[in-house]
Parts: sequence; structure tokens; C-alpha cells
Amino acid sequence: MKIGTALTNSATKALLLGSGELGKELAISLQRYGVEVIAVDRYPNAPAQHVAHRSHVIDMTDTEAVKKLIALEQPDFIIPEIEAIATQALIEIEAEGSYTVVPNARAIQLTMNREGIRTLAAEQLKIPTSNYAFAQSFEELQAAVEAGIGYPCFIKPTMSSSGKGQSMVKSADQLKQAWDYAKSSGRVDTGKVIVEAKIEFDFEVTLLTVRALTENGEVETSFCEPIGHVQESGDYRESWQPQAMSPTAIKSAQEIAFKITNEIGGLGLFGVELFIKGDNVWFSEVSPRPHDTGMVTMVTQQQNEFELHARAILGLPVDASLQRTGASAVILGGLDAQGVVYEGLDKALAVPTSEIRLFAKPEAFINRRMGVALATAETVEEARNRAVKAANLVVIKPTS
Ligand SMILES: Nc1ncnc2c1ncn2[C@@H]1O[C@H](COP(=O)(O)OP(=O)(O)OP(=O)(O)O)[C@@H](O)[C@H]1O
Ligand SMILES: [Mg+2]
Repeated sequence: MKIGTALTNSATKALLLGSGELGKELAISLQRYGVEVIAVDRYPNAPAQHVAHRSHVIDMTDTEAVKKLIALEQPDFIIPEIEAIATQALIEIEAEGSYTVVPNARAIQLTMNREGIRTLAAEQLKIPTSNYAFAQSFEELQAAVEAGIGYPCFIKPTMSSSGKGQSMVKSADQLKQAWDYAKSSGRVDTGKVIVEAKIEFDFEVTLLTVRALTENGEVETSFCEPIGHVQESGDYRESWQPQAMSPTAIKSAQEIAFKITNEIGGLGLFGVELFIKGDNVWFSEVSPRPHDTGMVTMVTQQQNEFELHARAILGLPVDASLQRTGASAVILGGLDAQGVVYEGLDKALAVPTSEIRLFAKPEAFINRRMGVALATAETVEEARNRAVKAANLVVIKPTS
């Protein structure tokens, strides 16, 4: 592996497609190895753009715009950070042979559409998932639920993330509303929704899985300790590591994560989302990139998920081991306003072991993630208490 000097002709360049808070930490990790980082988003001053060498604002769902930018920047690595990307551009560019899409263009295409990844996991790889069906009309949806999926179930647009367009339906009279919501709120209307039977899990985890090269140049898969989390309206609020699991469940979880990431291929870190009940494990979905619930690794691991992703991408060896028990709690906007101010950091940081990251997003929304509080402790419970306490002490106000 050879790395050039940033901002010279020899530079090793990484183009981030998506510049949110996860991209910001990845940009910092890459820059620690001297990589030249170019941050792209659909709006100016996105979090990663605050720390990148330079940035661009484009519509990332526009195939021509993405191709034009790649031709201009000629990056060594194209790193998608979000799902809403013109994947056709990545497929074409990868086929040209001179660029590396992380982990690869097929992975980005497969995981941006629930149909792609679900079919691959359940039908091709025979990995346990919830019972599911795809529906192109309300009648099809109704028939699928009545034919066996039953209630409660989840209705989701096939292309969406962060819970958008998703609802849980408990009885037949709620089905039409869920259908309308899924049809109108997806990122792109693929014409299809997925309906999934509800898994009555004990808890859900993200199993961060890394495909990286050893010093002998062989691909090796490593697993972080499982991360437990709680979700509200399809978005994560708290996460912690490690989540205790039975030895049988952890073994199944790792086998599932291995199967899916091995099939996807490429180098990098993946967030494998799993539901756990006793010794049983179901696959839910996978992100071919750092995961929001994995922000907890900023305080629990020597090599956090961004460092692991950066190393894997650059062909460097990794160590995914856990150092400390810790937790994260998100700091939501709580209001709709531009250029907000943050108060109470002095109090928040007086909580033992706490750390705060503010993302400096130019605009706050009531449910937009504006920052995260992190803490460690002897136990998960204490770490969660500390992280939540610190998060709650940060007060977001409009500029007066
Ligand atoms: N079949 C299911 N059974 C039980 N819970 C589910 C099911 N599907 C979704 N959920 C719950 O809803 C959450 C969000 O679902 P999912 O991950 O599919 O949505 P998403 O929009 O991709 O969210 P994100 O992008 O934040 O991961 C899950 O983490 C889980 O808590
Ligand atoms: Mg999810």
C-alpha cells in the first residue's frame, strides 16, 4: 500500500458521497493517514465539509452530475456515505476500471433497495429474516398480509432510510394508511413496498463487521462486540457496547454477518442489523459503511468504526477489539431553526467520562440529529445513564 501527499500530484484522494456526521469522522480518520478528502453533499456546509480539503454541492441522485464530478476529481476511492445515490453512475465508473467504489458498486446498489438485499439474504443465502412480501398495489399488500404475514407487521418503502415512510400496522383497518404513507414518503417511488412480519425480539443489535487485508494481503473478517440500541420512529436514540448475548446467539450473528459481507465483498466496515430472541437471530439489513449506532465506538474501541473503515479501505490491518464499556445518546434539534446555538456543554461535560460531538449542521429540525453524547462506565447501565444525562444537558436554542 502506497499513500501520496495530500494536495500534491501524488495525493491519494477519497471522494465522500454524503457528508454527514459519519462522513465527518471518516474524513478525520482518512486525513490522519494523509489522504486528500473531498466532501460532497446536496447542501453546503454539511458536517464532513467542515473538515475536508474541499467540497462540492451536487445532486447525488443525478447520474451525469456524479460522473462529471468523478471525472473532475479523479479520486482513488469513492466512498458512499448515504443511500440516495445514482448507483448507475457508480456501476459504470467501476466498470471503467480506474476507480475503487467502497466496498463496491454492487453493494451500494443492493443495499439501497430493500428488495435487493432482502432477496439476496433470504432466498440466495438462506439467512433467517422476518417473513416478508413485496407489493405493487394495495390489493397485493392486503393479499400478502392475509395469506400469512399477519399482524402486527411493518410496511416500508423499498427505498428509504431512517424510518421514513415506515409504519407498524396492528390491524386490518390501519393497512390503507400505512400503504399511502409508504407510497408517498419513500426516497424514490419504486412502485413497491415491502411488508414484514414483526419479529418479537428481546433486543436488536448492530454487528460491525470489517473486511480488511492482513499484512499478508489476505482478506480477513473481524467483528466488533455487538452494539445494542433503541429506536424511536425508525431512528436510533441510544446505543451501547457490548450488548450481552448468549454464546449461541453471538455465534449465529457472526455467521450471518460473515455470509452476507462475504457475498457482498470488497474492503471496508459494514453495519449488520440483527434481531435477537434468546438463541435465535434474524437478519434485518446491512449498511456497507459505518453505522449511526456505531458512534459509540468513539469511546469504546481503540480503533473506532471510522478508523476501521479507513484502514480497511486503504488496505491496512485492523483490530476491532473492545477496550471499554460505553454508550451513546443522540442530541436532537428539538426545534426548526438555522444557525442554532448550543448551551449547557459545561454541565454536560461535568458528567464523568462524558464526551460531546456537535455536528454543526447549518439547519436544525425537531427530529434532526445535531450531536451525540458519549460516555463509558463499568456497566452498560451506568454508561447509558451518563450518556443520556449528558445529552439532555445540552440545550439547543435559536439565535436571538
Ligand atoms: N420486521 C420487523 N420486526 C420488528 N421490528 C422491526 C422490523 N422491521 C423494522 N423494525 C424496527 O424498526 C427499526 C427500523 O427499521 P429498518 O432498519 O428496516 O428501517 P430503516 O429506515 O432502514 O432505518 P435505518 O436507516 O435507521 O436503519 C428497526 O431497527 C426495528 O427497531
Ligand atoms: Mg435499519
